[in-house]
Amino acid sequence: MNSSKLKTNIHGLKGGVAVPGDKSISHRSIMFGAIAEGQTRVTNFLLGEDCLSTIACFRKLGVSIEQEGDHVTVSGTGMEGLKEPKDILDVGNSGTTIRLLMGILAGRPFHSVLIGDESIGNRPMTRVTRPLRLFGAQINGRKNAEYTPLAVKGEQLSSITYELPVASAQVKSSLLFAGLQAKGETQIIEPIKTRDHTERMIRQFGGEIEIDGHSIRIQGGQTLKGTEVHVPGDISSAAFFLVAGAIVPESEIHLKNVGLNPTRTGIIDVMQRMGADISIDPYENESEEPAGDITIRSSSLKGTVIEGDLIPRLIDEIPVIALLATQAEGETIIKDAEELKVKETNRIDTVVNELYKLGADIAATEDGMIIRGKSSLTGGKVSSHGDHRIGMMLAVAAAISSGDVHLTHKEAISVSYPSFFEHFESLQK
Ligand code: S3P
Repeated sequence: MNSSKLKTNIHGLKGGVAVPGDKSISHRSIMFGAIAEGQTRVTNFLLGEDCLSTIACFRKLGVSIEQEGDHVTVSGTGMEGLKEPKDILDVGNSGTTIRLLMGILAGRPFHSVLIGDESIGNRPMTRVTRPLRLFGAQINGRKNAEYTPLAVKGEQLSSITYELPVASAQVKSSLLFAGLQAKGETQIIEPIKTRDHTERMIRQFGGEIEIDGHSIRIQGGQTLKGTEVHVPGDISSAAFFLVAGAIVPESEIHLKNVGLNPTRTGIIDVMQRMGADISIDPYENESEEPAGDITIRSSSLKGTVIEGDLIPRLIDEIPVIALLATQAEGETIIKDAEELKVKETNRIDTVVNELYKLGADIAATEDGMIIRGKSSLTGGKVSSHGDHRIGMMLAVAAAISSGDVHLTHKEAISVSYPSFFEHFESLQK
């Protein structure tokens, strides 16, 4: 197995980074651009493999998409203009692509087949296929449409009222795409509020949506209009430098243009609570998605409890928060996070096993993990298991390790942050 030796024993991370565009918002900009009428111009689009999979799928659905660097222009066809794909739609590693796309295809009067990589083949799809069938879509697939490959034959949909059994922005968004095409008013009720980029983008594209606490209502048959989308930097990518800045001695890192949507900023709340020296400088713009600059400095940290409503606001940051907790005095308990088991990998197992190999005092629980700090990481042989966020977390862990760290499947990082190592190294000069 090919493994890379990572840089260890780092001191003094200094400088600034503009992290690449937000993954969730980049996916949605293509999807809304496609189903809207007229052109949509996207800036700071994330050129990670996941978002490129979304572009490839929509091209197969007959949408013209031009890409020059991180500027993307989508020539919207309107919902009715999407065409039956002549080829299989391959979503690669991207759960967001497959789940949101299913909601669009559910109402299109044609046949499509969706596949992804090995990780996608193990991820649960009933959470979207069951409610989409309630709307009236015909969906077939392995194990009664729990797993890919999935075949969708769209139908004229009828609106539903649906209480989400899991807190998932992907499921919510998928059902909103179906609701946009259904006859009548669809109501979706979330158990806990999750990231609201879809709701914001519906408004940005001229649509109407009613949000009242955890209840969302949308009328079918709306026409959306193309617009400009300026994608802020991804706080989930910034998270690796927030943690690196806090735990690598003598560091001061400035992160520019980071998305600060309150449904995504759980990591900032937790870091502040743990005692991190972090300051936020929000921009005063009128854009749909709030953003700002963040400064982080080396910090003395203490353990905390992360649970409940906070979990969806930092779900993707838990791997790197676990690393942060290894450098905090006392115990950190992460609970109510069963959803980690169905991410790109089982992130309870991958985080616990890989950090344990490096010398952390960490144990898995049924719904999360317990970390005792502060511990010295000593090094070892670790793997990303093909999970981009595990790979980046391990690169940051290596930075504070005293012994050698070898990482296999480093390439997975390009799913969400192809320039990660370049940016990390720029802070080490
Ligand atoms: C996402 C929602 C979350 C998150 C994923 C992106 C989105 O997944 O983990 O990385 O863009 O809607 P779930 O909806 O499965 O929680």
